[in-house]
Amino acid sequence: MKILVTGGAGYIGSHTCIKLLEEGHEIIIVDDLSNANIEVLERIRELSQKDFAFYQVNICDFEAMDKIFGKHDIDGVIHFAGFKAVGESVAKPLEYYSNNITGTLSLCKAMLKHDVRRMIFSSSATVYKVGNTMPVDEEAPLGCTNPYGWTKLMIEQILNDVVVANPDWSVVLLRYFNPVGAHESGRIGEDPSGIPNNLFPYISQTALGRLEKLYVFGNDYDTHDGTGVRDYIHVQDLAQGHIDAANYAIKHTGAVAINLGTGNGYSVLDMVKAFEEINQVKVPYVIDARRPGDVATVYANASRAKKLLGWEAKKNLRDMCQDSWNWQKSNPNGYNKV
Ligand code: UFG
Repeated sequence: MKILVTGGAGYIGSHTCIKLLEEGHEIIIVDDLSNANIEVLERIRELSQKDFAFYQVNICDFEAMDKIFGKHDIDGVIHFAGFKAVGESVAKPLEYYSNNITGTLSLCKAMLKHDVRRMIFSSSATVYKVGNTMPVDEEAPLGCTNPYGWTKLMIEQILNDVVVANPDWSVVLLRYFNPVGAHESGRIGEDPSGIPNNLFPYISQTALGRLEKLYVFGNDYDTHDGTGVRDYIHVQDLAQGHIDAANYAIKHTGAVAINLGTGNGYSVLDMVKAFEEINQVKVPYVIDARRPGDVATVYANASRAKKLLGWEAKKNLRDMCQDSWNWQKSNPNGYNKV
């Protein structure tokens, strides 16, 4: 298939692009590089030993998208592009709504115009309402606590409505839990700009000595050790989930939401201990106050992914810790060499 990947230079996008190329698909990457490094593209070529088209374009630019769709005979779209920092979205809600929603509308308009009917969308477990019982399945009540989450939920709604109006479309809404890990080669991985917001890059940068210590946000939650529990999933498993979803979209029409998680919950301290033991490094930490907006426990019921896509997570905690560390220690400054 010829697959257009928006945000293909990002963390999950880049891992997915390599798998797509390895499986023999042709890809066209559209990324404005606002939160990605151009070096990623070289590494995708290096690891896959394949070439692809790349456009440095913001998907909000309909005219540019129209031209790209006109030039390539695209079979389907995997849509990752969007702003993704929860805290930043609270401070800059208009930027988030504008970029994430306008981008998706522009993309859908180009797809309609060029009769491209398949989309895999990068959604998030953050669309589930706080207070749901765990493990959470796809039928659980929805609702968000920050603008980033709302953009994901609004885009799900938009895509559901597009499918109602165009029943020959196929849309798979992939709700990711907590993506971690990196490509086994250590050549691509997560490269957050500035101080990381998420736990795993924070742990690995602390192990490296780039950050002094980890702040554990709260140890008085109702969990086995008081720290927050999440469903961490290896980025390579997530990438495979997109391949399986794309194959599903060829054979089915309609819209479906699917959780991509392992179904296992680990606490912050479980992760710190595992990272230290597996990689033989020290991760100094202190207990800090709870982070506003965090909940005690989130983990997936991933049975729909198995039933519909034949997908289940294959990587374990050891793989997640090893691969994250391998990437971090061989790229101490991420994609920036200096
Ligand atoms: N945590 C710390 N210290 C840190 C960072 C995180 O203790 O420096 C804790 C958090 O309190 C939480 C756990 O580590 O208990 C995981 O936090 P992350 O920030 O890594 O991830 P979240 O679960 O908060 O959010 C992630 C993604 C969101 C997505 C959400 C879906 O970052 O984009 O999962 O559940 F929306």
